[in-house]
Amino acid sequence: MNNLALLIPALAALVAVGSWVWRHWHPASFWYGAGYPFRLALVYLTWAHVAAGCGLSRTRRRWRWTLDAVPVAGSAARSVTVATCKRRWRRVDVERAPRLGWLRPTRLGWRVRVRLHDGQVPADYERAAEGIAHAWRVHSVRVADVRPGQITLWATMRDPLTEVRVNPDTGRLLTVRPGKLDNGSDWIIDFRTVPHWLNAGATQSGKSNLANAIIKGLAPQPVALVGFDLKGGVEFTPYAPRLSALATTRPECLALLGDLVGEVEARMALCRVHGVRNVWHLPDHLRPVPVVVLVDEVAELFLMADRAEKDQVAKTGTALLRLAQLGRAFAVHLVICGQRIGSDLGPGVTALRSQLSGRICHRVNDPETATMTLGDLDPAALDAARTIPAQMPGVCIVAGQDGTWHRARSVYVPEHEAEHAAHTYAHLTPSWADLTSSLPAVRPAVA
Ligand SMILES: Nc1ncnc2c1ncn2[C@@H]1O[C@H](COP(=O)(O)OP(=O)(O)OP(=O)(O)O)[C@@H](O)[C@H]1O
Ligand SMILES: [Mg+2]
Repeated sequence: MNNLALLIPALAALVAVGSWVWRHWHPASFWYGAGYPFRLALVYLTWAHVAAGCGLSRTRRRWRWTLDAVPVAGSAARSVTVATCKRRWRRVDVERAPRLGWLRPTRLGWRVRVRLHDGQVPADYERAAEGIAHAWRVHSVRVADVRPGQITLWATMRDPLTEVRVNPDTGRLLTVRPGKLDNGSDWIIDFRTVPHWLNAGATQSGKSNLANAIIKGLAPQPVALVGFDLKGGVEFTPYAPRLSALATTRPECLALLGDLVGEVEARMALCRVHGVRNVWHLPDHLRPVPVVVLVDEVAELFLMADRAEKDQVAKTGTALLRLAQLGRAFAVHLVICGQRIGSDLGPGVTALRSQLSGRICHRVNDPETATMTLGDLDPAALDAARTIPAQMPGVCIVAGQDGTWHRARSVYVPEHEAEHAAHTYAHLTPSWADLTSSLPAVRPAVA
């Protein structure tokens, strides 16, 4: 007896220490080997209570073999008699939780399919997500992958965005990995899928850092980078060795935009001559170099000090809009950064915004900017954008053109890192003159 009294606490201590060591030594195997089975049991055992508590259960009438009364304390013989007499087969109300599918582990938690009750919609689960997250003791629960009659709940145990460590270079043309998504997977920007991006957010929210990550990711690739920086060039000048062109004043911007539009028109003519719809269908030796245009603080392009600048601003707006409309098929891509990109900047801005199908919304100061950036996306996305904390710069809401959205965070790329990448891959920079004179045969046709 004495030995047993000592053995049990000793075993418990051994298990606790062993688990701690295992968890710290190899967290991934600990999760799949111990954490996940434990969570799985807990989720299935408590689901009926959790669903009822979150208002997701439905009351159904079911046939049950019931007892009217439970035997009262006292004479055992008398209780048995009562129970036997009152037992009946009848219809009663029972609470039915939505049916859970198989709990599949992910690196940061799990995902599970839920079959909706009749009359339920995914929004019911979005409203309940916070309650479910508290009940499951996890960082967050998101509704994803909506199919008719089914949704997937995606549980994340800890915020994967607290520390982001990824390499922006993917090794694939026009594809960068600027950070991580809230489900733990890499955040991938593929310009061939989503050609133009709008990157908005308040000051110090992480817009330029994201631009740095994109530059670092694209620098080793055979692409031309073009910068527009009307903040006097302070943002992009350090990356000049890898930029094929950089405009820092309004006249320079106008001239460069004019050249870019000319280049797009030349590419269009080249495609026409070869009977193809876009540059990707051209033979390899004819395909022009893809161009990624980065604009830091787009509002500066539209600001007018006096009426004399009105004409310049209108021309700038038109040229940007043309690039956005025509660029996709001809491998000219835009990344437009700004604090606020609304109709108040001038005519044409709303049309330009609607062409930028990739949307990134960093921390914003007012709900209108979030709505303006993310459009009429899921209201939960707008709420998420409004609640990005100031102490987590780089966190943003990313919306693709398929209507899905994610919380994401860019990897921290300080200026010197992006500068180093720009110097390292400076030899890959196509000169602007070479780039714009590469299609002489078709250029006269355009003119
Ligand atoms: N992903 C990130 N991880 C960690 N820190 C970040 C991240 N992004 C930005 N920061 C920090 O936030 C600061 C401000 O970022 P950044 O310059 O990109 O903001 P911004 O939106 O461009 O601001 P502004 O509108 O004033 O130009 C950076 O100096 C950096 O210290
Ligand atoms: Mg900035």
